[in-house]
Amino acid sequence: MNINVNGQPQDLDDALADPAMPLLWALRDLLGLTGTKFGCGIGACGACTVHVDGHAVRSCVTPLSAVQGKRVRTIETLRSDDGLHPVQAAWIAHQVPQCGWCQSGVLMAAAALLARRPNPSDAEIDAALGNLCRCGTTPRWRAAIREAAEGMPRRAPRLLG
Ligand code: FES
Ligand code: FES
Repeated sequence: MNINVNGQPQDLDDALADPAMPLLWALRDLLGLTGTKFGCGIGACGACTVHVDGHAVRSCVTPLSAVQGKRVRTIETLRSDDGLHPVQAAWIAHQVPQCGWCQSGVLMAAAALLARRPNPSDAEIDAALGNLCRCGTTPRWRAAIREAAEGMPRRAPRLLG
């Protein structure tokens, strides 16, 4: 089975990677990308969120067969050669993480949201993320996302004809 993760083609051993295997297992156990976390395993908490073709996806309930021919991106490449992603910088500024377990999933969900919605309201943040945090960091990540929105590249304004 072949999948593309963080810009690299990955040829997974068919003896280990069944098409029904959750993407999360392949990322963590076969590729060693342990930044993506296991929380609930039923698509409810968001700890396992990654990007698939730029969309936030819960990898614990996404089979490998569903990501064939698509681009998977994990927290390991959220930072680019240009430096931290704006959400990462804002996370540090607001000291968002407590235990940290849920945070990579929240960061990935936040980055996907800001890519399509550069200036979200709190209601839009809550609707888009839906991630669970047992440490109660939701108010901090709302504030961090609003700050990160200021650092996102702006789309060119539409010209009125
Ligand atoms: S571990 Fe995937 S949503 Fe909770
Ligand atoms: S920071 Fe601990 S669960 Fe979210």
